[in-house]
Amino acid sequence: MTVPMLVLFGGADSTVRSAPRAPGCHRPWCEDILLIDSTSRPTIIPTDLHTDRPHSARMYDYFLGGKDNFPADRAAAEAAKAAFPQVVTAAQANRRFLQRAVGFLAGEYGIDQFLDVGTGIPTRPNLHEVAQSVIPHAAVVYVDNDPLVLAHARALLTSSPQGRTAYLDCDLLNPERILSSSEVRDTLDLSRPVALTLIAVLHFAPDEADPLAVVGRLLEALPSGSYLALSQVTADFDEGSISLLAETYRERGISAQPRSRAEVARFVEGLELVEPGIVAAHRWRPDTDLDRGLRDEQVSVWAALARKP
Ligand SMILES: C[S@@+](CC[C@H](N)C(=O)[O-])C[C@H]1O[C@@H](n2cnc3c(N)ncnc32)[C@H](O)[C@@H]1O
Repeated sequence: MTVPMLVLFGGADSTVRSAPRAPGCHRPWCEDILLIDSTSRPTIIPTDLHTDRPHSARMYDYFLGGKDNFPADRAAAEAAKAAFPQVVTAAQANRRFLQRAVGFLAGEYGIDQFLDVGTGIPTRPNLHEVAQSVIPHAAVVYVDNDPLVLAHARALLTSSPQGRTAYLDCDLLNPERILSSSEVRDTLDLSRPVALTLIAVLHFAPDEADPLAVVGRLLEALPSGSYLALSQVTADFDEGSISLLAETYRERGISAQPRSRAEVARFVEGLELVEPGIVAAHRWRPDTDLDRGLRDEQVSVWAALARKP
């Protein structure tokens, strides 16, 4: 078992957060990692990143050209590329959708609170950087269940002086813990609209885990005028490659479930879809030729933004 030693430094705006073991969490590092505040000295924290097995966050980091991945992640990512050669293009298009949706929410609707679940390894511009470039006082809570994302949380705690960011180590499938966490309670005002962003994370939640109920529970806690932004891998455009892609994840122990447009529509049932509705990610209000030049099967990700009435 690989046990890298991590050195975490508190950034200027970081908050002290322990990572208590979540109910049902059997991961050995749950109680081992502490984020530290700006007044603390760097702390060496032993943790097990399970670098011997691939993780979806690190594979995605590899697709995006990041350096926070290990040989097992790179091998799995290469297998994914062999199954779906456009996976890098798709990851980039998905990331651009995230940036456009957040910029749109802040710029057009004045949304200044974000709950981002399935954050991923920090990639600039991070969500808070996009939101705070429009609304400097915007507040963002990041949530992910990957220990490496937690280890890099410092890069997510670089809020503007007027705004706030917090990081919570938690599973999407535990909405009660997310909602009752001090990170959410102290950072967001749940009596005002919040954008829940679930970007490229729902396909890691199989139907057996009832992600519809999970998303419903998270939305239930948010007031009218809140938004849900989501993206989800689909086999609708290229069934052969995407089925193979999902298989490369599943055979390495990562659950992966592509969903059809009709299945994605169930996540936004009862909400008001923002134009252009549920479309391939590059078709959601594209603002560069990078997106305008793409074909649906190259992206194979459904994207949507919807408002809670
Ligand atoms: C493909 S990355 C997407 C990152 C970012 N949202 C984006 O679209 O650029 C998926 C992220 O979801 C996280 N993730 C997967 N399943 C999760 C779960 N059940 N709970 C919380 N995070 C999860 C992974 O650790 C990874 O960081």
